[in-house]
Amino acid sequence: MNKNIAIIPGDGIGPEIINEAIKVLDAVGKMYGHTFTYTEVDMGGIAIDKWGDPLPQEMLDKCVASDSVLLGAVGGEKWNIVPGHMRPEKGLLRLRAGMGVYSNNRPAKIWPQLASASPLRKSIVDKGIDFIIVRELIGGIYFGEHKTFEENGEQKAVDVLQYTESEIERIGRIGFETALKRNKKLCSVEKSNVLDSSRLWKSIMIKLASEYPEVTLTHMLVDNCAMQIVKDPSQFDVIVTENMFGDILSDEASMITGSIGMIPSSSLGGTSCGLYEPIHGSAPDIAGKNIANPIGTILSAAMMLRFSFDMAEEADCIERAISVILDKGYRTADILPADENEALACTKIGCSQCGDLIVENLRKE
Ligand code: IPM
Ligand code: MG
Repeated sequence: MNKNIAIIPGDGIGPEIINEAIKVLDAVGKMYGHTFTYTEVDMGGIAIDKWGDPLPQEMLDKCVASDSVLLGAVGGEKWNIVPGHMRPEKGLLRLRAGMGVYSNNRPAKIWPQLASASPLRKSIVDKGIDFIIVRELIGGIYFGEHKTFEENGEQKAVDVLQYTESEIERIGRIGFETALKRNKKLCSVEKSNVLDSSRLWKSIMIKLASEYPEVTLTHMLVDNCAMQIVKDPSQFDVIVTENMFGDILSDEASMITGSIGMIPSSSLGGTSCGLYEPIHGSAPDIAGKNIANPIGTILSAAMMLRFSFDMAEEADCIERAISVILDKGYRTADILPADENEALACTKIGCSQCGDLIVENLRKE
């Protein structure tokens, strides 16, 4: 198969981790007889510097015209002073909205080899951590009106959180369908004790439940959910939630698995053209040092193969290779065990070496 992938290296560690993902994609393509061609796209700070816009229209067009998009990370200190509508992150939000990818899937799964890297007590980790956060991605407070103005002699800022029934329903369906393919447990997370948008959210989830009798639907307030994720993460199978709650909870969920550097994500809408990105940021403090963990990005590339290109075997092959290098004790700095003795049994590797090792360990089943 031939596939054209739009590549967005972005800022900070973005270009380094993307390089490693391309290495792995090329190697897998060769093994399975696929040709991946890449179209480079500027987005984020680099696009502001080059084009004066975090996502120029022709860059968005390239993404929409591709078979799927692989993104590193955007943002950095340097662009923190630019006005809100010109920030690097705005490019990412426009990309998500422009591609119509309303459903963001963020797995929180602990790799057994990294169990000791979790900050949670062993007795909690041993019960298992394997759930998915389905985050609504192109609505809610991120896309409501934002404004700052003067009122009664002081500054006032307003951000509007709004949802329509149809926006809630389409993400709700993804939640139920994701749960159907797993352990059939869906937890809808909201703040219905305070917010109207959450009460509408909850009522639509309840309505949808009648169409998915095999799935057990529960409801949880977002503050309680934040607590339950650290108290007993084994209770969760699929969480479905609105944009900002999903942003916050997915960072928390990633941390309990050991490192945010290991977590990929997929974002899909009505077509097979998806957006794939690690959930971590651009980490400017470690950029250019060849020490970043590229695994979140490489796993995102694997998700692209699985969900957009229907290449499940190829995706499995990448995931197996990652498991093998972890078994062999290779660790980037972020996943080195804190315990000195345990760390001695591991080999510390850099970003490019990590990509090379994954390529070397690719095997067909
Ligand atoms: C994420 C990020 C983004 C978000 C930022 C960079 C705009 O935190 O993908 O989780 O808030 O969605
Ligand atoms: Mg986030």
